[in-house]
Amino acid sequence: MIKPGFILILLLVCQPVWADAAAEIKYRESVMEVVGGHMHAMVAILKGRVHAGDLDFHAQAMANVAKVVPSVFPEGSGKGKTEALQKIWDRPAEFEISMQKFVDAAESLANTTDKEDMRAVGQAIQSLGKSCKGCHDQFKAE
Ligand code: HEC
Repeated sequence: MIKPGFILILLLVCQPVWADAAAEIKYRESVMEVVGGHMHAMVAILKGRVHAGDLDFHAQAMANVAKVVPSVFPEGSGKGKTEALQKIWDRPAEFEISMQKFVDAAESLANTTDKEDMRAVGQAIQSLGKSCKGCHDQFKAE
């Protein structure tokens, strides 16, 4: 027979772990929302020909946030309400390659938007978009 007191202690001991995992997931999703926000803003600028002067701002911000993205997938943060697949932690080498493609693409884009070459910007945005899809297809649930 398990005593209620024991269950209470178990709950108290386990709670910080649960809270951390939930906070970790919340943080990751928020960072990804930032990534998505800048991406959608840039696509809107290019498609709608609006706010062209803000393109460089979004590209620099993307390159900046790309510096923290690799850190938002710590071991143990795959359990709970998340769309991150366990494969991220089972195949770390593959995940790292996918991550690096994104970081490099964000960096490349940030090196084109301060110039007037819209063809180069378009190509860089496309590569960046491919890097999102590449990772999501493999490592994110629908
Ligand atoms: C290396 C892998 C990887 C790359 C690269 C990546 N993502 Fe994600 N993204 C994920 C994973 C995994 C999740 C699910 C996170 C979760 O639910 O915990 C996610 C979630 C998201 C979400 C949903 C956030 C939420 O509120 O649940 C958005 C939006 C998003 N990504 C946009 C992007 C965009 C735009 C790019 C490219 C510019 C990108 N991502 C690049 C792996 C990646």
